[in-house]
Amino acid sequence: MHAPALRLAVPSDATPVAVMSRALVEDGLPGWSWDPQRVERAIRARDTCVLVAAHGSAIGGFAIMNFGDTQAHLSLLAVLPSQQRKGIGTRMMAWLEESALVAGIEKINLELRANNQAAREFYRALGFVESASLPGYYQGYEAALRMTRDIRRQISNRMG
Ligand SMILES: CC(C)(COP(=O)(O)OP(=O)(O)OC[C@H]1O[C@@H](n2cnc3c(N)ncnc32)[C@H](O)[C@@H]1OP(=O)(O)O)[C@@H](O)C(=O)NCCC(=O)NCCS
Repeated sequence: MHAPALRLAVPSDATPVAVMSRALVEDGLPGWSWDPQRVERAIRARDTCVLVAAHGSAIGGFAIMNFGDTQAHLSLLAVLPSQQRKGIGTRMMAWLEESALVAGIEKINLELRANNQAAREFYRALGFVESASLPGYYQGYEAALRMTRDIRRQISNRMG
């Protein structure tokens, strides 16, 4: 099958995105932080971008990024296990970084579960660096690692 297309999420995507968050990102944590209502609020919010990689309504991956004035925060990113290691995560990040550059963002921050080695490798491969360790970040239950990428370097690379 050909690669999924990237598009902005619509409200009917909220439940499949939330279900993927619960299964792939929040697995084993108490509660359901990104439930369908919260994802739908993010889809409708003007300062948040919910991106999906999909064949029509069949979602294979998604990302949620909040845009501030000069910094953006990647809240969630996941790709279905059957579609991982095919470059979908990288394509979604490139799409979001391009949007962030156009919006005047200087830095992208994110947190991931400290024991999530695969995601750590993924973000490192994209040029993110570890900037802080945050004990008890997830509902006082589990530690997080903060990673950061200065995307202004990308601009100077392109102009140089
Ligand atoms: C992290 C995640 C989004 C990566 O998505 P993906 O589409 O599989 O990533 P890509 O195919 O673009 O991978 C790009 C590179 O990242 C690195 N990488 C990705 N997954 C990796 C893994 N499991 N182990 C080691 N390195 C990995 C590799 O360098 C890879 O390049 P390669 O395949 O040529 O070796 C995906 O593994 C995922 O959804 N995991 C579960 C949810 C999660 O942990 N989300 C992040 C925290 S919110």
